[in-house]
Amino acid sequence: MSVEFCGITLAHPVINGSGTFDAIAARRAFGEALEQEFPFAVFVSKTITLRPREGNPPPRLWEAPAGLINSIGLPNRGLEGYLAEDLPVLARWLPVPLVTNVMGSTAAEISELVRACEEREEIAAIELNVSCPNVHTGLDIGADPRQLEEVVRAVRPLARKPLIVKLTPNTADVAACARAAQEGGADAVSLINTLRAMALAPRTAGRGSSERRSAAPGGGVDPSERDGASVNPSGRWLGGGTGGLSGPAIRTVALAQVAAAAARVEIPVIGMGGVQCAAHAQDLLDVGATLVAVGTESFREPLAGARIARGLASGRL
Ligand SMILES: Cc1cc2nc3c(=O)[nH]c(=O)nc-3n(C[C@H](O)[C@H](O)[C@H](O)COP(=O)(O)O)c2cc1C
Repeated sequence: MSVEFCGITLAHPVINGSGTFDAIAARRAFGEALEQEFPFAVFVSKTITLRPREGNPPPRLWEAPAGLINSIGLPNRGLEGYLAEDLPVLARWLPVPLVTNVMGSTAAEISELVRACEEREEIAAIELNVSCPNVHTGLDIGADPRQLEEVVRAVRPLARKPLIVKLTPNTADVAACARAAQEGGADAVSLINTLRAMALAPRTAGRGSSERRSAAPGGGVDPSERDGASVNPSGRWLGGGTGGLSGPAIRTVALAQVAAAAARVEIPVIGMGGVQCAAHAQDLLDVGATLVAVGTESFREPLAGARIARGLASGRL
């Protein structure tokens, strides 16, 4: 079942979705057994930003019907911390190629991240998360094909390593964005990231009550609206105001978007969104994906990736 991906030979086509599998914590929990049967053919890091981020205030999760809304807010040690602390640990034992996922809010920031990754031989490829508002326009960099192509074109010459662009599904025309990433010089695109979603705090006395339970202190208010008041006038549950929906609830959206993107590009496509079993992974491969990523399912079953890879190899779907 080995697969060629951007010049790298992978044991099988199943990888992890960024931010949904913490390899360092898993190694602590599973010990050396994790090295013998690492669940993914590649390990993709969570998103790294230039400076450290604390992430969003709690609550950060909401269970939706058949899915999960997260408003984690990309907490991470920042580039320097990642390179100094995480990378050496991963390089010591990770049995598969490492893809580092980065995000910046300007082309200059992204350039710095890409340059730094290019210098480290432990990193096999770079994934660029473009679900980030541009500081000047407020628009997600990846939501507008013109802006996306410009950014990719600007950073492309800074790396010889494969550059994967992780597209946002929160856009009018994802296929146009995939095409723009290719035109800008991306070696591959990955999709879908989470769909923007929101949840209101539960009502205190069941149906009929207009009162809503308040979320954790400071939570439930858009960061832009937060003014230090402890009230929760909007009734929003998540500390970040809105979050991203993932899991089975988005699988059919993912299938449609992966099919649309794959039809518009010649570069490889990494498909993800709601994959729980080999049949779901095969669906994404059937509409044109080269690799499939498993995200939310790994929270329920950390070795889901291995199960799905075995299922694909056996052909019994
Ligand atoms: C808790 C959580 C954290 C995530 N963190 C990141 C991240 O750091 N960077 C990123 O590009 N995508 C992130 N994602 C998106 C996933 O990689 C994936 O694109 C999405 O969840 C859809 O796949 P799934 O339905 O299999 O989870 C995150 C998703 C979840 C649920």
